[in-house]
Amino acid sequence: MKLIAPSVLSADFAHLADDLEMINRSEADWLHVDVMDGTFVPNISFGFPLMEPMRKYCTKPLDVHLMIVHPEKYVERFCDAGAWSVGFHLEAVDDPLPILDLIRAKGVRTCLTINPDIAVERLVPYLDKVDMVLLMSVFAGFGGQKFIPETMSKIRFIRSEIERRGLQTLIEIDGGVNADNAAELFRAGADVLVAGSAVFGSPDPIQAIHTLKN
Ligand code: DX5
Ligand code: ZN
Repeated sequence: MKLIAPSVLSADFAHLADDLEMINRSEADWLHVDVMDGTFVPNISFGFPLMEPMRKYCTKPLDVHLMIVHPEKYVERFCDAGAWSVGFHLEAVDDPLPILDLIRAKGVRTCLTINPDIAVERLVPYLDKVDMVLLMSVFAGFGGQKFIPETMSKIRFIRSEIERRGLQTLIEIDGGVNADNAAELFRAGADVLVAGSAVFGSPDPIQAIHTLKN
């Protein structure tokens, strides 16, 4: 699959409806929604108050990426707020399985995420228990960082595991994605590319999304 999920983190919040309308007209597949709590990551983004306008103005599925401690307390609320998929960080929890169950019970797709310093092998036991894994290609917390090249071999590793076991699990990549590395990321086995600054920092975001996808 070759999907593009622009990250609303880099949108203009004073004109959010305009940016969402642009996303609606574009070839974007999902809208990536970065929720940061200032504890799991050294930054605070936004929370529930933005879910409603996003659901109202955005026609694309909301792909929620929780960068928070205690995701078990909040995943159901994000599901109720209109998330299409909800992901949280493996390194933020003791046992992801009951939290994945909470999300699945709401009929929402599940995603497990790891930061670049977490061994990619730690995702292997969960590949058949989630709809998607998200490999961070920068340290979670901020848009506009530089892509970490070691991500490429991690994608190939997870892709080969998924193929070997005949799974349908999607691989999403988040951080530093741009027109220079998108094709290589898809070739390595990524299904979904998140892009913040490469889309919203472009003078022509619609074209930028097209370029990333093709
Ligand atoms: C980083 C977020 C990313 C971020 C990506 O913590 O998870 O989704 O918005 O931004 P860019 O594409 O600018 O690296
Ligand atoms: Zn993200």
